[in-house]
Amino acid sequence: MTKKKSIKNWVNKHSKDRYVKLSQTENYRSRAFHKLHEIQEKYTIFKSSQNILDLGSAPGSWSEYVSRNFKEKNLVAIDLLDMKKIKGVHFIKGDINKLADRSQIYAKMNKADLVLSDIAPNISGIEDVDQANFVEILESILSICSDLLKINGVLVMKFFIGSSYDFSREKLKQSFSKVATYKPDSSRRSSNEVFFVCNGYKD
Ligand SMILES: C[S@@+](CC[C@H](N)C(=O)[O-])C[C@H]1O[C@@H](n2cnc3c(N)ncnc32)[C@H](O)[C@@H]1O
Repeated sequence: MTKKKSIKNWVNKHSKDRYVKLSQTENYRSRAFHKLHEIQEKYTIFKSSQNILDLGSAPGSWSEYVSRNFKEKNLVAIDLLDMKKIKGVHFIKGDINKLADRSQIYAKMNKADLVLSDIAPNISGIEDVDQANFVEILESILSICSDLLKINGVLVMKFFIGSSYDFSREKLKQSFSKVATYKPDSSRRSSNEVFFVCNGYKD
């Protein structure tokens, strides 16, 4: 298949996707908010969460989802990329793997009830490299949890199933009393994306 044809196929498939259509009609910045909505419907993660951290937040549909549906929450968001302003969201442009950038988070929020991560490291296509990047992200997230997540707090973290899946799940189980792996309906079947939904932070 020529490059032009494969781009056209991707565009056709993408524009037919009912979740993309819904994102457009509901005026969200991306389709990603559906995944968070499904996670909320199944695990009610926002009910008792006042202070929320959104890691890898750009372009911002998860932050929009929280700010529209759960007003009164205190939300801090961080991304390597810029994110257009969202009412009530404190945005930091930074890298969660860097200590200096992590301390900017702590300056804005010192205790969190809920940590969300939709971070997808750049995919190289080389399995070992991509899984190692996810493990680095996991280590950074666990370090952030150790600094600010309240006991019994919740973490929701994106992961791509691969060779480090078992290791990563076991690592999370050391810090949380319950770790579930969830694939939202709005996550493409062809992708190996899943979310770890971790309850009961133990430190
Ligand atoms: C799938 S997008 C997030 C989409 C977002 N949840 C939304 O609803 O709009 C993943 C984001 O993770 C960010 N990212 C990747 N590595 C990061 C890192 N080390 N620190 C902060 N953000 C990172 C990327 O820049 C990208 O914007």
